[in-house]
Amino acid sequence: MRKTVIAGNWKMNMTPSKTTEFIKALAPEVAAYNKADIVLCVPFVNIPAAVEAANGTNIAIGAENVHFEPKGAYTGEISAEMLVECGVKYAIVGHSERRQYFGETDETVNLRAKAAIASGLTAIICVGETLEMRESGITAEIVAIQTKKALAGISKEDLAKVIIAYEPVWAIGTGKVATTEQANEVCAIIRDVVAGLYDKASADELTIQYGGSMNAANAADLLAMSDVDGGLIGGASLKVADFTTIVKAAQ
Ligand code: PGA
Repeated sequence: MRKTVIAGNWKMNMTPSKTTEFIKALAPEVAAYNKADIVLCVPFVNIPAAVEAANGTNIAIGAENVHFEPKGAYTGEISAEMLVECGVKYAIVGHSERRQYFGETDETVNLRAKAAIASGLTAIICVGETLEMRESGITAEIVAIQTKKALAGISKEDLAKVIIAYEPVWAIGTGKVATTEQANEVCAIIRDVVAGLYDKASADELTIQYGGSMNAANAADLLAMSDVDGGLIGGASLKVADFTTIVKAAQ
């Protein structure tokens, strides 16, 4: 049985003090919900506050990125070891905003995923097509290539430390959610690709999330789809009530 994972992606929002406030408010609301793993991926500087506030709760803390080298002259970057020592369990890699605005490529996404896994983090690897790609009918090919390149050199055993988030770029932050069928179709395509790379049993165990304008109103329908094993949630993860509703929808 694969795990359902509901993960918030705060992006560049919230300060350390707001982080503490948010998690203290969220924790009692979601304490009784154990069907999904609950994760909040927060800005680097908010991590200590988040880990402290989440201590003893069923909320795990993630980072929004991780560098691929263990240390060195990489101004502005954060290593997996640093994150692990802070109590981080997950790291998003290859988010479309990183690819679009900060020059991430399939190669750097692969390197970052491998570094995260090697340190014991679970890598939440994001893939997804732009609107132009969807309209050109190449969604399946694009997502397959991104998945294959992201997973290059990752062993079957290490797949247990991987989550793939299918995030159509046109649905992120736009309020334009994929239909349940579109989300399920592409998550199933990703699962087929993983089955081809490894085997069917490994693919069946892999958590594949949907992300892109998932919110309190549409989460239940999306999460009910057979190949959608959770969500990566941006805007709606910034409100305690909305994020709680999404966690409950996974129950
Ligand atoms: P959104 O963002 O829920 O605000 O669309 C999702 C994401 O970027 O992970």
